[in-house]
Amino acid sequence: MNKKTRKLTSLGFGLLAALALSSQARADEVGSFDREIEYRQSVMTLYNWNMKPMGAMIKGKRPFDAAVFARHAKDLSAVAGLDLLSGFPEDSEDGETDALADIWLDFDDFQQKYADLQEASRALNQVAASSDQAEIKAAFGKVGKTCKACHKAYKN
Ligand code: HEC
Repeated sequence: MNKKTRKLTSLGFGLLAALALSSQARADEVGSFDREIEYRQSVMTLYNWNMKPMGAMIKGKRPFDAAVFARHAKDLSAVAGLDLLSGFPEDSEDGETDALADIWLDFDDFQQKYADLQEASRALNQVAASSDQAEIKAAFGKVGKTCKACHKAYKN
């Protein structure tokens, strides 16, 4: 191989490598919504992490501990403040997900159901500091309803 051919050959390899890289970058861009799906499921995990122990206390499956309950109510209202909607880009219904395509047919309603959760969890956080068990129970029930309402409409 003379000098000129060597140069051309390495140029060719360089180009090939560049092409391979750019097609990889494209695949990452349009490919899938894996990261968004992981994010939204993680946010749901945080909701659940806080709802479960409160639910167990409400149902009497676990002794009522006002301080523990109040901490979960506070954390739930904090995680409900995370931007859930950025985990639901349009038409991200393919992949390892239980999200239904209906979400993007009526995104206003989906957003409203999310707003309902935020409002109910804020209210629960306020009430959790009180010692009125009936009020706490009612406020917790309202939060649970907002989870169920959204799952019923938009989750497999
Ligand atoms: C605005 C709609 C909405 C609200 C409100 C909502 N969820 Fe979800 N939830 C979903 C959707 C959609 C999925 C499916 C997500 C996916 O698989 O990509 C889901 C999935 C989940 C999952 C499964 C996560 C996983 O790892 O697959 C849990 C647990 C969960 N939600 C708990 C809750 C709890 C607890 C609440 C209330 C405090 C709640 N959700 C409120 C829409 C909602």
